[in-house]
Amino acid sequence: MTPTDLERAIDEAASLITAPKHVVALVGAGLSAESGIPTFRGPEGIWTKHGEPDLRDYERFAADPKSWWEQRIAGAGGLGELRTALESAEPNAGHLALREMEESGWLAHIITQNIDNLHQRAGSTRITEIHGNRTRLRCTRCHARWPLDEFPIDELPPRCPECGGIVKGDTVMFGEPIPKDALDECVDQTWKCDCMLLIGTSAVVYPAAQFPLDVRRLGGKLIEINPNETPLSALAEVTLRAPAGQSLVRLVERLRDLRP
Ligand code: APR
Repeated sequence: MTPTDLERAIDEAASLITAPKHVVALVGAGLSAESGIPTFRGPEGIWTKHGEPDLRDYERFAADPKSWWEQRIAGAGGLGELRTALESAEPNAGHLALREMEESGWLAHIITQNIDNLHQRAGSTRITEIHGNRTRLRCTRCHARWPLDEFPIDELPPRCPECGGIVKGDTVMFGEPIPKDALDECVDQTWKCDCMLLIGTSAVVYPAAQFPLDVRRLGGKLIEINPNETPLSALAEVTLRAPAGQSLVRLVERLRDLRP
């Protein structure tokens, strides 16, 4: 996209964002790519390089949560490359732009597929983490959640002090149902939404990829922010075909100009 085209698209996006009542951002790995966290798909994607985990991850956990915990404590399993990137990542200009959009009343809510906790560290507050958060633990029965360092692990598998259920990392595993409270919040935000920003997601993983389709079906508008085409590109009212950090910073500058 030429710089002029991008400027024109940013103008269109800014006027689309200032009109509606309820703007929601659906965020994917592309937003955190500029924080050094690899994406999953695409040429340099983690799954492209190492293969996608199979859907029996959660089944294996449920069958033997004790050994799953033993492996986790031993630091085994999982992808070292991803873990290192997650541990050293800092929020980038895109995360900070979303925080400002929330503070300025342009953005009502973030639905993120990312588990990296970078939205919170950037200062955003209205967030639903549909795939969980790597810095938390969760009860598999009542969905109570605790910051990792506030939950003493004195038995394996650890048990929920509220209901006695088995506790695991809050990150949603392949094959694990999305926690009901998070899914309900996403559906509620989707029904209220009349403009959805699709930021750095390939929009191929469900149920998250369903939300933009529902927004459209309910008469809402889509704005895609992604350097590459996705299955939703054709449905987007406006497309910013550029990295999220760059596009969101320019978008916020434009929104400030439009402020009465
Ligand atoms: N800015 C914006 N978008 C970017 C950038 C960038 N700097 N770099 C890459 N992208 C785009 C890619 O073009 C791609 O469309 O980000 C998207 C990343 O897609 P995926 O790797 O598929 O990530 P995501 O959509 O978040 O995956 C969804 O799949 O594997 C599961 O649980 C995992 O939450 C993840 C889910």
